Amino acid sequence: MEVQIETLIDRETLEKRVQEMAEELDRIYAGKELRMIGILKGSVYFLCELTKRMKTPVTLDFISVSSYGNGTTSTGVIRFNKDLDEPIEGLDVIVVEDIMDTGRTLSYLMNVLKERKPASLEVITLLDKPSRRLVKIEPWLTGFTIPDKFVVGYGLDYAQNYRNLPYIGVIC
Ligand code: IMP
Ligand code: MG
Repeated sequence: MEVQIETLIDRETLEKRVQEMAEELDRIYAGKELRMIGILKGSVYFLCELTKRMKTPVTLDFISVSSYGNGTTSTGVIRFNKDLDEPIEGLDVIVVEDIMDTGRTLSYLMNVLKERKPASLEVITLLDKPSRRLVKIEPWLTGFTIPDKFVVGYGLDYAQNYRNLPYIGVIC
């Protein structure tokens, strides 16, 4: 069966919003030493598109996490597939996510990173599905709030496919 992908957010709309987010970060972080942390692999496209539009100098690091489940539900217990390369103590840190869903992964990750004593720590996400939230966590800055649909493209995958679509689509 051929898979159909319906556009949810087109390329032009994405690029306009990413530009606005870059300008907002420049306003807020002017003069700061900013470390941006991408959560592999989904945030990579958003992180690149965002930071190349920013004037504030940034340094990058990456983290890869997965959550253990008991078969039917995620327990929220996190395994680090790849930790950060560098300490974040004393730095202004932004964690960059592709999509916030239940919020479990990010909630755990934020607690771990807080213990490393950054000067500040915020989460930004390209997409947010607030209707799916199971833990109390809100992104500091969101690109688009979307309905409860499974989306792909611009870094987001379905079984590792479709990450390189230049728009956000829904598989139907
Ligand atoms: P959670 O917030 O801990 O439930 O997990 C969020 C992660 O689930 C994201 O970083 C994505 O990797 C994945 N995810 C959630 N919703 C979608 C979707 O609609 N498309 C692709 N991946 C998704
Ligand atoms: Mg992800």
